[in-house]
Amino acid sequence: MISRRAFLKTGALTGAGLMASCAESLWSPHRTALDEGQSLQRFVDVLPIPKTIRGTSAAAVEIVMSEFWQQLHRDLESTVVWGYDGTFPGPTIDARRNEPITVRWVNRLPLRHRLEVDSCLHGPHDYDDKQSHPRPRAVVHLHGGHVPPESDGYPEATLLPGQGVTYAYPNLQNPTTLWYHDHALGITRLNVYMGLAGLYLIRDPSEAKLNLPQGPHEIPLVIQDRSFNKDGSLRYPDEWQEEFFGAAVLVNGKVWPYLDVQPRKYRFRILNGSNSRTYTLALDSGQPLYQIGTDGGLLEEPFDVNQLTLTAGERADVVIDFSKRNGEVQLVNSAPAPFPGPPGQGVIREIMQFRVGTSTGDDSSLPARLAQVSRLRENTAVNFRKFNLEMVDENPKCTEPGFRWLINRLGWDDITEYPELGSTEVWSFFNLSPDVHPIHLHLVHFQILDHQQLLPDPKRDRFFLPETVPDSKPAPPEPNEAGWKDTFTSMPGRVTRIIAKFDSFTGKYPYHCHILEHEDHEMMRQFEVIRRR
Ligand code: C2O
Ligand code: CU
Ligand code: CU
Repeated sequence: MISRRAFLKTGALTGAGLMASCAESLWSPHRTALDEGQSLQRFVDVLPIPKTIRGTSAAAVEIVMSEFWQQLHRDLESTVVWGYDGTFPGPTIDARRNEPITVRWVNRLPLRHRLEVDSCLHGPHDYDDKQSHPRPRAVVHLHGGHVPPESDGYPEATLLPGQGVTYAYPNLQNPTTLWYHDHALGITRLNVYMGLAGLYLIRDPSEAKLNLPQGPHEIPLVIQDRSFNKDGSLRYPDEWQEEFFGAAVLVNGKVWPYLDVQPRKYRFRILNGSNSRTYTLALDSGQPLYQIGTDGGLLEEPFDVNQLTLTAGERADVVIDFSKRNGEVQLVNSAPAPFPGPPGQGVIREIMQFRVGTSTGDDSSLPARLAQVSRLRENTAVNFRKFNLEMVDENPKCTEPGFRWLINRLGWDDITEYPELGSTEVWSFFNLSPDVHPIHLHLVHFQILDHQQLLPDPKRDRFFLPETVPDSKPAPPEPNEAGWKDTFTSMPGRVTRIIAKFDSFTGKYPYHCHILEHEDHEMMRQFEVIRRR
């Protein structure tokens, strides 16, 4: 296989290569790195649990975005972060199915962005009003939410500091783990990196009946990677780069934390909230993780896995049983960065630690049967669309870098998909590149129909040919991708077919790669749901 590097005329501008070779020139020279965070001691801080906000439809909950200091590790100076309601990550919004809630989102961020805004992208300067310093435009998207377009956080509908907007969330969808995060065109990666993200849970009585671990035994885990300067500030390159991999892993806003647990079952709502990094999670004790849910709700039955891969934006609902354990169990990661890649390359092994205490009993259950997942059938689809995911060797807006990550070689403003309201469609994503792309659609939850391997491109002007290998059969999704999804893992050299029903709302919605550096580049387009003709 040809190397990532050889693929590009621009040579060194590939993920890991860029990190190493351009680190000094891209990052402010007056700052010194604290090994970018690698040297921080593991497992010295308690895992924080974000506070919970219970929404109502009667009165809008006001949630303010602001800048503040937060201590992210015992040995680190306090860090300037951005957050919702004064915390990073933001509060967990606790919603009930069929009970709409309204939130008033207010931008009280400072007048100047904290990170260098690369104006050589679509977004930061195209619609700013010629300010000498790019301002922290912000807009909140509920990822996985089945939401009308005016409340979805359209990437151009940004708020300037001092502005606010009221969004309505209908919650007419399966109970599941959603998350909300910033989505401002061209600076999403910077705003999320500064801390603008939080969880949003939808619950319902049918799920409560399952008697899964709850209360103090239901724990959110928001996993993100960051790098630091010696003064504790967040470190991020001044210019756009293909991918960003931080040097330390944070869970719920603490670097490599620990959690005291009892020898019993726990439910973990796991989110990969990182900009680019993929995680392949496992327990170093060798015990299994029982996956009970995906992005869009519960699986039909628990699926026990020894390891679980989550690309950026994906969630997993997982039960871990610590009974018959004592001492320490580490949650570890083995995914190379960039992903996929040679084993060990760029891996940060530790995520967090569990310290198993003494028994207090366990009255929770892990039922064999969780939910019904009705399958969308291919013969109900009225449209079949194809998408090529690739790095295109031209960049009209910028001379550096000389390529762009695109979908079908088109950009944000080029709308070509107009699904009719209520119709079902099959979308095939051909990943012609050597990188994983977590592909996310707004508005809908979809199901994965199958994956199929692609032929390598003999001419090598792309990695793979957008045609299926005739003699390879399509493979069904893995059991833990077989539920409802809003973000799927598009592996290099593979075509993945998904099926979705576009119902409830007409309007424009984004679909994009959830590697935030790719999304900003612009591996993000939009579809428009239209009334039936
Ligand atoms: Cu998680 Cu378009 O977003
Ligand atoms: Cu989304
Ligand atoms: Cu991508």
